[in-house]
Amino acid sequence: TSSHGQGPFIAAIDQGTTSSRCIVFDRDGRIVSVDQKEHEQIFPKPGWVEHNAAEIWTNVQEVVAGALDKAGISKEDVKALGITNQRETTVLWDKATGEPVHNALVWQDTRTDALCKELGRNVGQDRFRRETGLPLASYFAGPKIRWMLDNVEGLRQRAEAGEILFGTMDSWVIWNLTGGPNGGVHVTDVTNASRTMLMNLQTLNWDERILSSMDIPAAVLPEIRSSAEVYGYAKGALDGVPVASALGDQQAALFGQTCFSKGEAKSTYGTGTFLLLNTGDTPVNSYNGLLTTVGYRIGDQAPVYALEGSIAVTGSLVQWMRDQMGLIKSAAEIETLASSVEDNGGAYFVPAFSGLFAPYWRSDARGVIAGLTRYVTKAHIARAVLEATAWQTREIVDAMNKDSGVELTALKVDGGMTSNNLLMQTLADVLDAPVVRPMVAETTCLGAAYAAGLAVGFWQDTDELRANWRRAAEWTPRMDADTRDREYKNWLKAVERTMGWIE
Ligand code: G3P
Repeated sequence: TSSHGQGPFIAAIDQGTTSSRCIVFDRDGRIVSVDQKEHEQIFPKPGWVEHNAAEIWTNVQEVVAGALDKAGISKEDVKALGITNQRETTVLWDKATGEPVHNALVWQDTRTDALCKELGRNVGQDRFRRETGLPLASYFAGPKIRWMLDNVEGLRQRAEAGEILFGTMDSWVIWNLTGGPNGGVHVTDVTNASRTMLMNLQTLNWDERILSSMDIPAAVLPEIRSSAEVYGYAKGALDGVPVASALGDQQAALFGQTCFSKGEAKSTYGTGTFLLLNTGDTPVNSYNGLLTTVGYRIGDQAPVYALEGSIAVTGSLVQWMRDQMGLIKSAAEIETLASSVEDNGGAYFVPAFSGLFAPYWRSDARGVIAGLTRYVTKAHIARAVLEATAWQTREIVDAMNKDSGVELTALKVDGGMTSNNLLMQTLADVLDAPVVRPMVAETTCLGAAYAAGLAVGFWQDTDELRANWRRAAEWTPRMDADTRDREYKNWLKAVERTMGWIE
């Protein structure tokens, strides 16, 4: 409002699952302007999800221009540009032309099911867990690269000859921003690399042994760098602006929520939901279905690790109710509809659309609505949709407690779905713990901006960033223990019913 006018500023690009956006921040971490554009979701077959990477790059350029325009500033006012992105989504492109060789395979895509099963045969799902912190699942990038190498004609040969580059969306955007075929830098950061299933969590390098078991040529891989350093300088509209951070969106949200100390956690409610707990300088193994991942690394400081509980479908279930079912006209309407009834009427909705992620990692699961009777209306289903997000969070929190031995005292939340009051109340109820939301709910972009600002000395240290965190809202539990226990049991019964659907 008042002091926004004076720069300088940091801009952050969030290349997300459903849209790309750019946000300009001032020194206090306040939003100066936002521009956003959705891209097409391509569903060629059941379980397949693709994006057009060229469309995404065009959108990214548009939203950057748009955000600067809305802020009324020029590139000279932007001290650095940070990048954050939907993770695991995989693109391969021609180094000479910059043309993607295939649509990007989105993290939600399950086509590598059989490949993952094959890779785990005899040894099981945990074949690469010790090195990578991840179970074998179609979610991660490595198997997606392999699928394209096997299925796009002539691609393997070209890849081996060094003509093809791989990237998650951070690499794709940075390469294009810094010149594309004319000198673009081919890098990724430790957080994004930790989702490929190809990076060793201890050395933070590509793991030779895994590359050879997955049959992926090292020639396609980007260089792994820290999350906060100058990778290169933009060409084009932002000519000369340092490109100074990259973090997977969930890690960026951890950073934006200033969870810099061991034991701090956040949960982001977007198309999916991802709860990350800072575990300090050691990677903690999970015995309860969580992922071990890199939280962030600032320049040449020691890396910070995290435990993650990933839920594939939360906000995207609301979108599905709107776009595929036509039961609501806008995403916001889900709250009004759900609030028109007292409870779920006995219905439970387990949206295992991409299989089940944490803590189950079952690619063979598919969605169910259980407990239907003639009594159930679309309002009850709307309620079950919101409850699904809450119960899935509860399962992750239980797993975190078991792995870390730490009881949750409060949950820091952010992301688009946190504007849904009924959902936030339900969350506090099923967790039996307070839920708190900061002033800036756009913590993903904020985290990328923070990291970029640290890299160029715009902010001095993490203490300065912490001072910007302000509480905006809090929800406290109201549900009685009996109801909670009964509902949790019913939810778990419904979850059982999703498994083994795909042979
Ligand atoms: O791992 C997938 C995650 O990074 C996607 O996040 O916010 O685009 O749903 P979002």
